[in-house]
Amino acid sequence: MSDNRGQFSSKIGFLMAATGSAVGLGNIWGFPTQAASNGGGAFLLAYLVLAFLLAYPALMSELVIGRHARANIVTALDELGQTRSTKRLGRAVGYYGVLVAGLILSFYAIVAGWMLSEFGQSVSQLIGWHTAETWLSSDSLLRHLLMCALFIVLTVAIIARGVEAGIESWSTRLMPLLIVILAGLIVYVLTQPGAIEGLKNYLIPDFTQLTRPSLLLSALGQAFFSLSLGVGTMLIYGSYLRKDDSLPRMGAGVTLLDTGIAFTAGLLILPAMYVAQAQGIAIYGDNGELLAGPGLIFQVLPSLFATMGNVGVWLSIAFFALMSIAALTSSISMLEAPVSVVTERTALKRVGAAWLMGGIIFTVSTIIVLNMERLFDRVVSLTTEYSQPLLGIALCLFVGWIMKRNQLLNELRAGHRDIEHSLFWKIWPFYVRFICPVLILLAFTQSLR
Ligand code: PFF
Repeated sequence: MSDNRGQFSSKIGFLMAATGSAVGLGNIWGFPTQAASNGGGAFLLAYLVLAFLLAYPALMSELVIGRHARANIVTALDELGQTRSTKRLGRAVGYYGVLVAGLILSFYAIVAGWMLSEFGQSVSQLIGWHTAETWLSSDSLLRHLLMCALFIVLTVAIIARGVEAGIESWSTRLMPLLIVILAGLIVYVLTQPGAIEGLKNYLIPDFTQLTRPSLLLSALGQAFFSLSLGVGTMLIYGSYLRKDDSLPRMGAGVTLLDTGIAFTAGLLILPAMYVAQAQGIAIYGDNGELLAGPGLIFQVLPSLFATMGNVGVWLSIAFFALMSIAALTSSISMLEAPVSVVTERTALKRVGAAWLMGGIIFTVSTIIVLNMERLFDRVVSLTTEYSQPLLGIALCLFVGWIMKRNQLLNELRAGHRDIEHSLFWKIWPFYVRFICPVLILLAFTQSLR
């Protein structure tokens, strides 16, 4: 493939972009609340084991395929096939993957629009811009659609600039900012009354929960969603990685950073909920379970910030900036998956492809917003619970059964010369061939019961 298709300029550039894709609303919102309602430290343990045992090997499959082919998911899987039918299968899996990436982005952008609204609302409050504040807090259809559109425009604007000037340069600016804001918020919240109770709830393990299959499933689903697997985003980022970078190390770095940030986010969210409780705000729903859904982010936390006066406004700005940044670095990777297919398989250039795909995705978001009750949850579960694990299995099978062993070894050897003698090479090829697909399938079929 041609070299002008773009490439990350450094290891850090790749790490920031891939970690940016992985660290999103799933880490800061999904992980802490799931942990709190599924046995605290026990969930954390299950999550860590599954992330390294199943999600990391699957991530490696995507990175290896991507860098080997130096192409988008459709072309890459097509080229791996040696017969007409495996090629056709490859293209089908690839198209399905980018379709899922687009669908995830269409609901993700709606939620990200809500984050931008909250951010804008707090900024307007700070500068005394009351008309904007009222509009941003209204529940109007127009507000939902415009803020979703704004978020998609930001995503498109970054993707239109390309790999180095867009994805890499924005990820390397936004990710450190995200970490600084997260750390600052944690330090502040932990000094507030009630915080320690939240820490206990988050960290003290209830091991009896480990015997529940649903706990393992939630942990697996969370790990796959969090590492952005199955939909071609990691594959395309792998294809922009330089040949002299070690894939196993890069993959391990991304997995470590992603799980590390998910864990750290729990140190903010759970204590904040209990600080809110200490202020008299309800944090348990009618069913007696800890609030986890939109009620947590859009009611509990804003009510907490409202009790804190001026400091609360700043906290709210910081918190919703954190959420918006996390969403943006993930959404650019989701958009890059279909955009790379279009630019590499048709005559359309990057800028046109980015706006075209952004437009299509916004149309789908609009349909979802107009049918929120009926569609939102369905699209979420169809894409993240069903499609991502199945696509993950398919990609492991491509690496395990269709890619030749010497292709695999050559790809891994580039950037990691002594790979043949490493533990990774002794275990991983066998692992993605047999164990990973079977385990993912097992967990998946359990979820259908
Ligand atoms: N990893 C993101 C999160 O944890 O929020 C979500 C995500 C990003 C899923 C990119 C899929 C994807 F392609």
